[in-house]
Order: sequence, then C-alpha cells, then structure tokens
Amino acid sequence: MNKIIAMRTKELRIFVYEYPTLYDLPEADQKLVLAAREASGRAFAPYSRFNVGAALLLENHEIITGNNQENAASPTGLCAERVALFYANATYPDIAVKAMAVTASNNNGLVDGPVKPCGSCRQAMVETEVRYKQTIRIILDGKKKIQVFEGVENLLPFAFKPESLD
Ligand code: THU
Repeated sequence: MNKIIAMRTKELRIFVYEYPTLYDLPEADQKLVLAAREASGRAFAPYSRFNVGAALLLENHEIITGNNQENAASPTGLCAERVALFYANATYPDIAVKAMAVTASNNNGLVDGPVKPCGSCRQAMVETEVRYKQTIRIILDGKKKIQVFEGVENLLPFAFKPESLD
C-alpha cells in the first residue's frame, strides 16, 4: 500500500559572481578590497596569525575598515567583519552599509580563498541589511579568484531575522 507523501522539495538559487583577479572587478570594488587588504595589515592576530581585513562602503560614500582582534582568552576576540560593522553602526547609526570587502592573509600572504565569513559574521550582516533595508554587496578576496554576492541571502539562506522572533 502506497502512503501519500505531503513532502515538497524546493530548490534555492544562489548567485556567485567570480572574477579572476582584483583588476577584473569594477573600480569601486577594487578600492574596497584594497582598503580591506590595508586593514588586514593592522590586525591583532598573534594567536592564529590569520590576519583578516574588512572594508565597508557606506551610503554616505565613507569607507570604514576593521580587522580581527584576538585575545589570549580566545572567545573574547572578534572577527574583522563584526569589528567593521559594529564600528560603522555605532558611528553612523542612520547610514546604510552598501558593500563589504573581506580579505585574509597568513604566513604565505593573501589566502588562496576566496575567504569565507564565519556564521556569526553572516548573521551580523543579516541584521545590518534588515536594519537599513539595504542589501549588502559582499566581495570576498582571494589569490585564486574573487567572489561577489549581491546580498547576504546568498551566503546565509534561511537566516534568523527579527521576524523570526514573532
Ligand atoms: N576571523 C575573522 O576575522 N573573520 C572570519 O569571518 C573568520 C575568522 C578571524 C577570527 C580569528 O582571529 C582568526 O580569524 C582565525 O579564526
């Protein structure tokens, strides 16, 4: 006897735009990646020796950067993306974040990548998108290629959002 199955399958579409090198990117993205690379040079990462840099382009055209800040008591440290996001949100509480570039380097220089933001940073990006009603263009740097995503939905589908609290 066959059981009637009510289960439905849905397929999600995720778009990833890939560029072979920095110089293939649109100029505004190149500028943001260079700012992120510069910020990674100021990271405080004596424990992992993994220097991450993040650069945000705000609606007012300002670029805000951040880098990872580690701590001997490891959970106390913070990722580059959240350092940049929280600084931007704290300094310009009414100004949207339009784009974010992330880069990372280890002892061998720029990682092959593209670098991937951790889950907590993706969640913080979701909150920023919802807060300012503006999707963020995300540019992930790497030696092998650079990936661009239009909106965090492409990096964190089924995210926990303010409406999930209802
Ligand atoms: N890290 C970031 O800054 N961003 C990420 O998205 C992933 C990881 C940092 C945290 C820690 O200082 C080091 O990279 C190694 O995990």
